[in-house]
Amino acid sequence: MNCHTGIDLYKRARNIIPGGTHLLSKRPEMFLPGQWPAYYSRSRGVEITDLDGNRFIDMSICGVGACILGYADPDVDAAVKSAIDNGTMSTLNCPEEVELAELLCELHPWADMVRFARGGGEAMSIAVRIARAATGRDRVAFCGYHGWHDWYLAANLADDGNLDGQLLPGLEPAGIPRCLRATAVPFNYNQPESLEAVVQEHDGKLAAIIMEPVRHSEPEDGFLRHVRETADKTGAVLIFDEVTSGWRMNTGGIHLSYGINPDMAVFAKGMSNGYPMAAITGIRPVMESAQKTFISSTYWTERIGPAAALAAIRKMRSHNVPEHLNRTGDCVRKAWRQAADEYGLRISIKGIPPLSILSFEYGKMSQEIHTLFTQEMLNRGFLSSKAFYATYAHREEHVNAYENAVIEVFKTIAGAIDKNSVHESLHGPAAHTGFKRLA
Ligand SMILES: Cc1ncc(COP(=O)(O)O)c(C=O)c1O
Repeated sequence: MNCHTGIDLYKRARNIIPGGTHLLSKRPEMFLPGQWPAYYSRSRGVEITDLDGNRFIDMSICGVGACILGYADPDVDAAVKSAIDNGTMSTLNCPEEVELAELLCELHPWADMVRFARGGGEAMSIAVRIARAATGRDRVAFCGYHGWHDWYLAANLADDGNLDGQLLPGLEPAGIPRCLRATAVPFNYNQPESLEAVVQEHDGKLAAIIMEPVRHSEPEDGFLRHVRETADKTGAVLIFDEVTSGWRMNTGGIHLSYGINPDMAVFAKGMSNGYPMAAITGIRPVMESAQKTFISSTYWTERIGPAAALAAIRKMRSHNVPEHLNRTGDCVRKAWRQAADEYGLRISIKGIPPLSILSFEYGKMSQEIHTLFTQEMLNRGFLSSKAFYATYAHREEHVNAYENAVIEVFKTIAGAIDKNSVHESLHGPAAHTGFKRLA
């Protein structure tokens, strides 16, 4: 497969854009260094065309989880085009933002008020600011990944390894004021004792407890309730980050499935099918503290984001999209498992079905095996990685074609492991695993 135009363009990008791309997860090095097509000319449904006219079926992270309905969904795009035709900006506000706030509160009956932003990390930063304003406290306890902002990276000022194990190893806190040291303290998911230890050390000083309700594993019995009770006891605002977990298991935050309500929930890329939009929802006494501080930005008032979100949420609800995502995720997991069993490969599968993660369990060799998987799948016309994010546009024929390719590629991998030739089978270096400075 010849993807040289994108590969050459990325060489130019690395020279002029520090880090090459604007999102770590879209760096070609994260998939297949030197071979990944890197740029697209067109995306529709689950199909992506690169700059050389090659067409791929996307069975990877699908726009980093931002397009639950599939690329260029016709209903969302029609709403956006209508917003464009009627003007996306004016001195007056767009009515869609009130409609969207009401819809979010209807879907999350515990929530009373909503603020909007356009990105997930930015919305999390707003939530933290509001929680700090509401409590008059500085420190936050968190687990998981929540974006690039100072409040979060400050965790690594205390200890280089703090953010390891929180999804993205190796994040450097250069540029974060040292005075923020010890303002963000990590705890571990499903380990109530680790939260207890943080609460004891920072008793009466925590503004917020911040976490994804679910990510790589389901909450153990009573864990979310324990977190809720701990937040109540210590007077911290409980913030659920639903930027990635939302809208996939049910229409709204995944916390609705577990019956534990936060004080604030933050939504972003899952809610608007590829158009920038983010929402900070919360209970009135906390949300009103947004008025004690200054949170305001011009483009948080444009019209495309709310128009796209309204259309996307309505479609996800009326078409029971979460059910489709779950079924599709289950089929892909079954395909991985059956092919692995057939060829004796050691794999593990994590995550909720719509956000499934495949791991080859071969110790130090695992990353090269993953890279070989991506390489061989690319040669068969699939964008594939460790993660499969299901979309409404994935249909049976895509999953069947993918399954046939997985069977062939797992056979190739098993053969390479047997012959100890995984390294030689790669046409370039192994994929990167976390944040790494590009040379
Ligand atoms: C749980 C979670 N929080 C926050 C973010 C940051 O969102 P964004 O990339 O839109 O800034 C992400 C992005 O992947 C995420 O998964």
